[in-house]
This record gives sequence, structure tokens and C-alpha cells, in this order.
Amino acid sequence: RRVDDCHNIEDFRTLAHRKLPFPVFHYIDGAGDDELTKARNTAAYNDVDLVPNVLAGVETIDTSTTIMGRKTALPLVLSPTALQRLFHWQGERAVARVAERHNLWFGISSLSSVSIEEVGANYSGPKMLQYYYHRDRGLNAALVERARAAKFDAIALTVDTIVSGNRERCKRTKFKTPPEFTPASFLSYAMKPAWGLNFLFREKFSLPNLETHVAEGSSDAISIQDYFDKMLDPNMDWAAVEQLRNDWGGKFCLKGIMSVGDARRAADIGCDAIMVSNHGGRQLDGSRAPFDQLEEIVDAVGDRLEVICDGGVRRGTHVLKALATGATAASGGRLYLYALAAAGEAGVERAVCILRDEIARGMRLMGVKSVAELNRAMLRRR
Ligand code: FNR
Repeated sequence: RRVDDCHNIEDFRTLAHRKLPFPVFHYIDGAGDDELTKARNTAAYNDVDLVPNVLAGVETIDTSTTIMGRKTALPLVLSPTALQRLFHWQGERAVARVAERHNLWFGISSLSSVSIEEVGANYSGPKMLQYYYHRDRGLNAALVERARAAKFDAIALTVDTIVSGNRERCKRTKFKTPPEFTPASFLSYAMKPAWGLNFLFREKFSLPNLETHVAEGSSDAISIQDYFDKMLDPNMDWAAVEQLRNDWGGKFCLKGIMSVGDARRAADIGCDAIMVSNHGGRQLDGSRAPFDQLEEIVDAVGDRLEVICDGGVRRGTHVLKALATGATAASGGRLYLYALAAAGEAGVERAVCILRDEIARGMRLMGVKSVAELNRAMLRRR
């Protein structure tokens, strides 16, 4: 199967499975414990039916919207994900270029394999720095200042990862970053020589946003679980969040809100947006799906901040269902990561085009000309 034969996100997942060494594939594809939540995130969308209207004159439609003050072509945000040069040598550069071409929000992870500065200098589209709250306060302050200097539009503070989720697939494959070629793991890497040659002979893998502060991150291989558990501060609280919001002063988003109470507190401290998210099911397994929580959260705070529904999106109609419920946008990680792993920039480009076309086709078939026309009367829970 080639890129041109990929007609949906699941096709890219199949291709990524073929191309990636197993530890890397399972790092992307895996989730916490029994992966119930990861499955629910998508199933929640499929459990709700669309009720279309017809005869609405839909030749000309407008899929654009405004998210945190920036107009974007689609109500879709590319969520921040770590380590992208491990998935394909073009890494974050490929994703940022596609986002810029399509005028989409690009989220860069603080665990990115390309620096904040490089993205800031080369990419003019709307961009947010995802931020983990570290025990090392100096590192926290440095990340804010680097995002400011690199002219980022927003910071998204991830609040669902104060300790690592239990990612059993990564334990089984002994996934470490950078990958370790031990006798046990050697075979799984040797079976994918194209990936291996790129990894060994292209630019050396690093985590440039952290290396001045994290000796472990630049020299020895670590598991992501160890990184989270050693480096991140599990005492992060609302006071810390408010302080960070004030230090930054720009558009501020909390990523990983699930309860109505927390959504209210986010609005109270002046957040511009929240991403209703369970980290793609990678953290607390058994957590509810963001789409299932969306209605209550929009009703509680939708007039005070923007609500982005994160995770589980595999189809354009999923995005439409989130918007019809009242979200400003939907967002996702794996929806572009499988494509990045499968074919680099060409893959991400095709995945975004597929989603763009699915959103536009879905709007026409729903009888709506703009995203603002989507509403709850168009949804029925089975
Ligand atoms: C993530 N996600 C994530 N989130 C974050 O705040 N910082 C990060 O570094 C990462 N890294 C990361 C790596 C990989 C491989 C995945 C799949 C996810 C979570 C991400 O931003 C988003 O919340 C989920 O991807 C949403 O679920 P879907 O769209 O992948 O189903």
C-alpha cells in the first residue's frame, strides 16, 4: 500500500504499522492500561447520529473559523505530540509545513525533536507551545520566555500528565528515547531498515527544548514514563496555573480538562480556551470520552472560553459532531501522526486533505454552509 492508496486515517495507521519498528509504532498507537478510553474516544462519536437537512444550496460553503483570535481554514487543531523525528526523519518540520500551507493551528510539544526557535523562525501559521509543568522552575520560566521570543500565539498547559499513565505496550517493547539498540530490541529495529538508516544517518535525534536542563534527555536513553515521573511536578495546582497564565500574558489554553468543575475554574482564572481531553487515552484509563463530556462543559462555560474537543477524531464527521455540540474546534494527534510515520510531509499533507474534504463533504450533505450553522438539533444519541 502506498500513500495514494490511503483513503482515510485508518489506512495510514496500517501503513505506519508496516513502516515503523514495533516499539515506535506501539508508542504512537498505544494508550493506558486496557486502552478502554482510547477506544471510547472514537466510539463516542460513532454513538451519535447526524440528522441532515437538505435542499440548502450548498455549492459554496465556508469551513473556516476563528480559534484563540486566529482565523483558520478548518475547525481542526493539530494537537501537540512528542518526539516526531522518531516517527519520520522530517518530524515536526513536515507537520508545521503542512499546517502552514492549510492555515491550521500547529501544536508543538515541549518534548519536540525540533526546537521552539526553529518553528518560530520558519513557520508563520498559528502555533501553540504545549507546556509540561516541571519540578525545575527555571526550566518552566525558560520555556515561557522562549515561546515569547519565538512569537508563539498561545501556550497550552497540559494538566493531565502530572504522573505518567501506565502504557503497557511501551513496557513490553522497552521503548526508550532515543531508541536503544540492545540485543533484545535489535531485531525489531533491524526489520525496518529504511527507518533505521534514516535514524542513524540523518541529523542526530535530540529534544532541543530540554537539553540544557535535562542531562538524561540528551545523553542516556530514558523511557517517557520515567521522564514524566522524575521531571514533572505532581503538585501543580490552580495557583501555579494562574501564575503561569499571568507570567505568559498571551493566549492561554488548559489541555486535559474533563470535569465541569475544572472547566469553570479555568474560566474563572481567565483561560482563553480549554482542550477537553484525556490525552488520547494515554493517561487515566477509564476516563470518559471528551465528546461525551462536551455538552455539559459547553453549557457551563461555552460563553466564557473556547472549548476544543480533543482525541478520537478519525473522520471529518467527527469534527462536525463536536461543532454541532458547541465546540469551537476538534483536535487530534494520531490523525496526523500515522500519516507522518507512513510518508512524512506527503503523508501529513494527504491526511489533512482527506479530513478537509470529509469536513466539506459532510457539511454539504448536512445542508450547512458555515460551521456556525451546525447545532444540536442535527444530532441524536442512539
Ligand atoms: C501525545 N499527546 C501529547 N500531549 C501533550 O500535551 N504533550 C505531548 O508531548 C504529547 N505527546 C503525544 C505523543 C503521542 C505519540 C500521542 C499519540 C499523543 C496527546 C495529544 O496531544 C492528544 O491529546 C491526543 O493525541 C488525542 O488523541 P488522538 O487524537 O490521538 O486520538
